Amino acid sequence: MKTTAIVLAAGKGSRMHSNIQKQYMELMGKPVLYYSIKAFEESSADEIIIVTGANEEGFCKKHIVDKYNFKKVVKIVEGGSERYESVYNGLCLIEDSGIVAVHDSARPLIDTETIDKSIECAKLHGACVVGVPVKDTIKVVDNNTVTDTPPRSALWTAQTPQTFRYEIIKKAYDRMNAIGKAQKNNAMTDDAMIVNEYADMPAVMTEGTYRNIKITTPEDIVIAEALVQTQAGLCN
Ligand code: CTP
Ligand code: MG
Repeated sequence: MKTTAIVLAAGKGSRMHSNIQKQYMELMGKPVLYYSIKAFEESSADEIIIVTGANEEGFCKKHIVDKYNFKKVVKIVEGGSERYESVYNGLCLIEDSGIVAVHDSARPLIDTETIDKSIECAKLHGACVVGVPVKDTIKVVDNNTVTDTPPRSALWTAQTPQTFRYEIIKKAYDRMNAIGKAQKNNAMTDDAMIVNEYADMPAVMTEGTYRNIKITTPEDIVIAEALVQTQAGLCN
């Protein structure tokens, strides 16, 4: 069964407040996007589709795919203004069924073992989300007032990759695009939510690592660089 990875790099990085988008910022001299592509190159995935911002396809090919001699990247496509639009643009390039792993390039610390685990999980169960149990106590807050404290034992942080059988995620996205309201779609912050809502399929959680942080705000770059410097596994 063929596995295609969709690596998302079309975001604007507005919370990073930097001149250069976070996927192109450097960690130990290499762009953030490089690290995810490298992990997928070394994984059991067969092909990689990179989704970039408008008119960035050439830059991405020259400065990442060609420069580092990545062999599995089969297509580079322009994304949309919302994450789910970028995912859909990638999905539309996949011709055959199989497995699709959707990954945020803002998570450069992803490791090959976790990718392979999520692919195996999707083959078995159809929908798989990588995550870790939360460490903090989480509060539900309404208008600055704490309204609930869900039991921590039930809470996990969702990461990527999120991995699906192609026909399941494609059906979910097609249905969302056909019947979903834009406002509601914006509240769908990950693919597992979309698949649950529009394909009626709950995802199976696969335990990942605490290293697999998402670079979102400036301090995350400092943390990511420190983690890149350490050997995989050291901080788990
Ligand atoms: N992404 C994308 N297309 C979009 C929005 C996001 O491909 N229209 C990608 C980002 O490049 C990132 C991942 O989705 O790798 C997760 O999104 P997020 O961390 O929110 O990144 P940004 O949207 O770029 O950041 P911000 O929300 O702060 O603007
Ligand atoms: Mg965003």
